[in-house]
Amino acid sequence: MVLRRRYGVVGTGSRAGMYVDAMVGEHADVAVPVAWCDTNESRMAAYDERVHPLTPRHYHPDELDRMLTEVDAVVVTSPDHTHAQVVATALDAGVDVVCEKPLTIDAEGLRVVHDAVTASPARLTVTFNYRYSPRNSALRRVIAGGEIGDVLSVHFEWLLDTVHGADYFRRWHRAKRNSGGLAVHKATHHFDLVNWWLDDVPETVTALGGMRFYGPRGTGRPAGARPPLARDLAEDDPFHLDMAGDDRMRRLYLEAERDDGYLRDQDVFAPGGDIEDTLSVLVGYRGGASMSYSLTAHSPWEGYRVGVNGTRGRAELEVVERSHVAVGDAARLLGPGGKRPAVDPSVTPGTVDGTVGTRPHGSRLVVQRHWDVAREIPVPAGEGAHGGGDAILLRDVFRGPADDPLRRQAGHLDGMYSVAVGVAVNTSLRTGGPVRIAELVAAPADR
Ligand SMILES: NC(=O)c1ccc[n+]([C@@H]2O[C@H](COP(=O)([O-])OP(=O)(O)OC[C@H]3O[C@@H](n4cnc5c(N)ncnc54)[C@H](O)[C@@H]3O)[C@@H](O)[C@H]2O)c1
Repeated sequence: MVLRRRYGVVGTGSRAGMYVDAMVGEHADVAVPVAWCDTNESRMAAYDERVHPLTPRHYHPDELDRMLTEVDAVVVTSPDHTHAQVVATALDAGVDVVCEKPLTIDAEGLRVVHDAVTASPARLTVTFNYRYSPRNSALRRVIAGGEIGDVLSVHFEWLLDTVHGADYFRRWHRAKRNSGGLAVHKATHHFDLVNWWLDDVPETVTALGGMRFYGPRGTGRPAGARPPLARDLAEDDPFHLDMAGDDRMRRLYLEAERDDGYLRDQDVFAPGGDIEDTLSVLVGYRGGASMSYSLTAHSPWEGYRVGVNGTRGRAELEVVERSHVAVGDAARLLGPGGKRPAVDPSVTPGTVDGTVGTRPHGSRLVVQRHWDVAREIPVPAGEGAHGGGDAILLRDVFRGPADDPLRRQAGHLDGMYSVAVGVAVNTSLRTGGPVRIAELVAAPADR
């Protein structure tokens, strides 16, 4: 008989749902949620309904130590600034950890996690779901297979649109002390992809950027006075958000406001945020490659483009996740039948967006060797969120990586190196100069 591992979930907000649904669904034979840890009773109660008839115990974060005596592993889906301490406490207690990205948000957090990992026999997994999406795995295979030779440089552009990108300016992410800014919170995905694609270690980072589109002085701000909450904006305002109209948003956020005053729908142009919406970054790698990276959180379409230049040729991956945003997309949370959100602003768009206009929805991986014609590499279509990455990742998390030739399952060093690039971006934005990663990650580079 297979024994089910007992899991505690720290942070029962939106992202926890993916793990919880997996534990009561596809992976219910190997995993069971036995405890929630959150500051908010209403959100924990919403998860009780989701796993009925299971009855997980509720813990306040002050009671984390007690919860850890009752579980075999924890899933960490609380806000980013809490991760390092939760991870360290769990590892100290000998409890395995599955931690959402980013592993931490600053240099102190990197030190805390490193010390805890070094002293504990327990296992830490960082869930980099983007590695698992078939198109990103395909690019890794192309590079690892030597088709384009040794990598000399990477040009990587990530575009978040005015639904998904805007959402980081509505809640806790908008303060750097909570999220590390998008250089950490969001770009940790992208910096990890490049570290993994190149199988290399970042060494130097230089950055420029700012909050240019959102915020009270943002260029995207419509003229006139605005209410502080998106629910009170006119329905034809592109940044209007109606949480009351969606079951999940209403239950998790609107009805939970009375517990802790967490406002999920602040206006993206309201004062108080200090994160960048526009970033340009240069990274140097130990193996000699360099990367130019840009992040735009206010694009009219969502997706990414990466070009990898090697000694024998070039690989190009272009992904369109949402081909355009129409006014009202973020506001119209109810889909057909009033059940599913038509557009969840917090979620990376999936496969639902048909091609509209001249921008084809989907992904295209092209390889061209010197003195040869360009060739398209077929990419299997991924089902569900993050290009199909989430479903494959969950199997690895709960059942272990059966066969992992691409080394998709990420450990603490992967988590640390990707965060370290973001932390270095933040330092470079402050100082204007280059930053050495060795000042942030005191870990051995060999993985
Ligand atoms: N890999 C991905 O694609 C992906 C996608 C979304 C979110 N995430 C990550 O998941 C995490 C959660 O994001 P979210 O969108 O669910 O946020 P959320 O705000 O919806 O949920 C966070 C939850 O944590 C709770 N919380 C606050 N302080 C806490 C503490 N000290 N201890 C325990 N719980 C606490 C909040 O009350 C809330 O219920 C973040 O780290 C985010 O980066 C990852």
